[in-house]
Amino acid sequence: MTVSHPRQTTVAVIGAGPAGLLLARLLHRSGLDCVVLESRDRDYVEQRQRAGIMEQGTVETLREAGAADRLDREGIPHDGIELRFDGRSHRVDFPSLTGGRRVWVYAQTEMVKDLVALRLADGEPLLFEAPVHAVEGIDADRCTVRYTHQGREHTLTCDYVVGCDGYHGVARQAAPRGGSRTFERVYPYSWLGVTAEAPPAYDELVYAHSDRGFALASMRSPSVSRLYLQVANGEDPADWPDERIWDELDARLGADGTWHLNRGPITAKSVLPMRSSVTEPMRHGRLFLAGDAAHIVPPTGAKGLNLAVSDVAVLARAFAHLRTTGSTEQLEAYSATCLRRVWRAEHFSYLMTTTLHTDPGQPGFDTRLQLSQLDRVATSPFAAADLAENYTGLPFA
Ligand code: APR
Ligand code: PHB
Repeated sequence: MTVSHPRQTTVAVIGAGPAGLLLARLLHRSGLDCVVLESRDRDYVEQRQRAGIMEQGTVETLREAGAADRLDREGIPHDGIELRFDGRSHRVDFPSLTGGRRVWVYAQTEMVKDLVALRLADGEPLLFEAPVHAVEGIDADRCTVRYTHQGREHTLTCDYVVGCDGYHGVARQAAPRGGSRTFERVYPYSWLGVTAEAPPAYDELVYAHSDRGFALASMRSPSVSRLYLQVANGEDPADWPDERIWDELDARLGADGTWHLNRGPITAKSVLPMRSSVTEPMRHGRLFLAGDAAHIVPPTGAKGLNLAVSDVAVLARAFAHLRTTGSTEQLEAYSATCLRRVWRAEHFSYLMTTTLHTDPGQPGFDTRLQLSQLDRVATSPFAAADLAENYTGLPFA
């Protein structure tokens, strides 16, 4: 297939994950042109297994973008989560604690497929296997993005560049030396994540604190479960045969022995490290960072995808404001506007992570503090409302 290589555009978007694809869709709807450059192939991008919980604001943004048809048909609304700890179960009810807010189960990979299909149907530029290797001129009148495609070098001139290229992308590196700071925390555990052809045993997500480590029962559909176990950093998934995974999930999630998961063939198995990271500021001249390129959260709070969506919602609105008024005011406020929400999600993800994960060697004092915090959520409407408000997400700025 012959592919054209536009020489110039208004916004060059690096990366076709949820952040880049949704930004491109929102810009297109506002009449702004952009080119999306993605280093991997389409199959890889569409098959990558990621999280699956969407906040209310994420769903609303996708609807406004005209990208929620399948989500509205196949997404599963959830009105709460279950916390298991110390032999107890406690359900946190979202709508009653947040004035009607809820979340949806809809896999990030499905959202990516929907957005790729829309962009291609619109006939708008989206190049796969087109890695960007340089971003230049972010403090000049126009900038230049250099990339390779089908063995040839290409140059794209643009007014703005948005780095939606994840933690290891080039955009973060293009920020001026000394002009940016990264704040980080690495956790002493990872998650073993599995997908199984088995109906979820419970109709909501179950988060379990146990002496054996954290476990989470999630889902992708009425017939597919998504399950996670806390494991040591550097753990090899090959050391986890299916039987061992199911037994360990049952031991952690159904500690009282009366509750069992539905077992079925495991179709995917991988180990995910846990990290918190924020790069400030999220804008340098004509370069903007969005999604994982600017921040990473551990998956416990299910915030990664939602932060990526809220960043690009703010940015798309700022570009639309520039187009209709000629004012760069909202673009200048982008970093500060997003970072407020980012740090809230960082704190929530940190708190969920450190409250629910246990280490065999951890002092008994620390375990008692974790249990006290979980007991507080179970007994205080204020603590429960705080969790529910953070989980369902603050309204988008
Ligand atoms: N040139 C072009 N594309 C690149 C480059 C590059 N130099 N480097 C990385 N990319 C691409 C990656 O291949 C990837 O497809 O950028 C994309 C980044 O996408 P994601 O990692 O999905 O990041 P983002 O869109 O910010 O979505 C955040 O993903 O990691 C999860 O938990 C996270 O759910 C959150 C979501
Ligand atoms: C998921 O379904 O992948 C998932 C759900 C909730 C989380 C993390 C991951 O907190």
